[in-house]
Amino acid sequence: MNDPNGPMYYNGVYHLFYQHNPFGPLFSDQMYWAHSVSHDLINWTPLDLAIAPTQPFDINSCWSGSATILPGNKPVILYTGIDSQNRQVQNLAVPKNLSDPFLREWVKYTGNPVINLPDGIQHDDFRDPTTAWFADDGKWRIIVGSQKDKTGIAFLYQSADFVNWTRHESPLHEVAGTGIWECPDFFPVMIDGTNGVDTSVMSPTVKHVLKVGLFDYARDYYMIGDYSPEKENYVPKNELTLGTLRYDYGKYYASKSFFDPVKNRRILMAWVNESDSVADDIAKGWSGLQSFPRSIWLDRNQKQLVQWPIEEIELLHENEVSLQNENLEDGSLHEIQGITAWQADVKISFKLTNLEVAEELDPSGIDPQLICSEMDASKKGKFGPFGLLALASHDLTEQTAIFFRVFQNNGRYFVLMCSDQSRSSTRNGLDKTTYGAFVDIYPQQDEISLRTLIDHSIVESFGGGGKTCFTARVYPTLAIGEEAKLFAFNNGTESVVISELSAWSVKKAQINIEETVVYRS
Ligand code: FRU
Repeated sequence: MNDPNGPMYYNGVYHLFYQHNPFGPLFSDQMYWAHSVSHDLINWTPLDLAIAPTQPFDINSCWSGSATILPGNKPVILYTGIDSQNRQVQNLAVPKNLSDPFLREWVKYTGNPVINLPDGIQHDDFRDPTTAWFADDGKWRIIVGSQKDKTGIAFLYQSADFVNWTRHESPLHEVAGTGIWECPDFFPVMIDGTNGVDTSVMSPTVKHVLKVGLFDYARDYYMIGDYSPEKENYVPKNELTLGTLRYDYGKYYASKSFFDPVKNRRILMAWVNESDSVADDIAKGWSGLQSFPRSIWLDRNQKQLVQWPIEEIELLHENEVSLQNENLEDGSLHEIQGITAWQADVKISFKLTNLEVAEELDPSGIDPQLICSEMDASKKGKFGPFGLLALASHDLTEQTAIFFRVFQNNGRYFVLMCSDQSRSSTRNGLDKTTYGAFVDIYPQQDEISLRTLIDHSIVESFGGGGKTCFTARVYPTLAIGEEAKLFAFNNGTESVVISELSAWSVKKAQINIEETVVYRS
């Protein structure tokens, strides 16, 4: 699997479609939309393939797209088809039978494509329509990702009936030098509070997020700004550059969000690809997975988004262990026992005192990922490295270290967060890149918190309450099953205090097991 497609909530059921090759473990030139449903976003039931490449307008693949719920509670899908001439075009599909609670079958509009390749755009540079939003002038809008001469573009289309679409004279946004924009997402976030809102909400109480996937880097970047449907323009506060805001500074791509009306939240999911080789994927018979769903909202400072695992993870919690006020001196290793360390949810927060002795570092112009790989978990500092060792073997030969370092510069403190995969496996031939980013918190007043979800080959970490996130794929050979251990550690010369730790075993969710979902009206 790769991209999540068309996530939505409809009549009591969550739907997730995704890019899928039903004939093998690798991406292919015949991609389909697979389909799973859930009542809780945790346990999923697979259904038949929803959209297959069968028609002249999609015969060479059914690529990514989005769902929109039209008035009268009618879901529709827009997706990219690769047509018989290998052009990327945008197609419409609707459920065959709205009274089927799972919307198993989808019918393609016979007039497809509803949007053709624009003049002057290369045949393979036009894809991934968003969920539509509606404005007071009675028109729906979507954006479609593209590029021209390396300028990434979000083309904007308008339609009164969802069938006839007209391209607006100017794109919603474009940025030179960024290459093709894949899987754009455009949605409002409340200025105040953590609730999500429907994609069509326009009001002074929201800001708008534009997320784009940069294909050349396989990274999802986002901007926060102001959108006016009257002027049809979007003004981001932060411009997109390679050093700016990302949802996740690890492996996390082609994400898509949707509004969940049941709990008034916006939920984000993404494709997490493998860090092993194509030969490994063939041997294991599969590749790619979906991230654990996250709630996403605007931080109080309005400068960035915050992400947090959805609360439904509690359905899988068991064996809680906890700890308060534990001092971790230089070299401390505290094993977190009593839980299944290979399938766990851990929350830990650290209190630091005596910050004036923190090391000096001028953060301007430096690449945090580079510092994290040069100063890995084994390199002693003053404040840090401290954090968690996940999926560790008993002798620590294998470990995935998620940790912090605190520096000062001209009387200001700043926090670096790293996810160090360099010792995650004794195997060679894996991508063990270390990830790094700053966490926008004030260590004089805020505790430094970390939450990590560990599940066999995936480690998802949330620093500073979800301000900085990393997803890593790791393939231990020793730290597997009962042999895997979990530690809190401090390898800095200054002591840090674990003010609070809670950890749970996480039970196995029911994934792709038929009959787990029963329709409840
Ligand atoms: C992103 C992407 C999309 C495309 C899909 C094809 O990963 O390349 O742009 O629609 O995957 O599977």
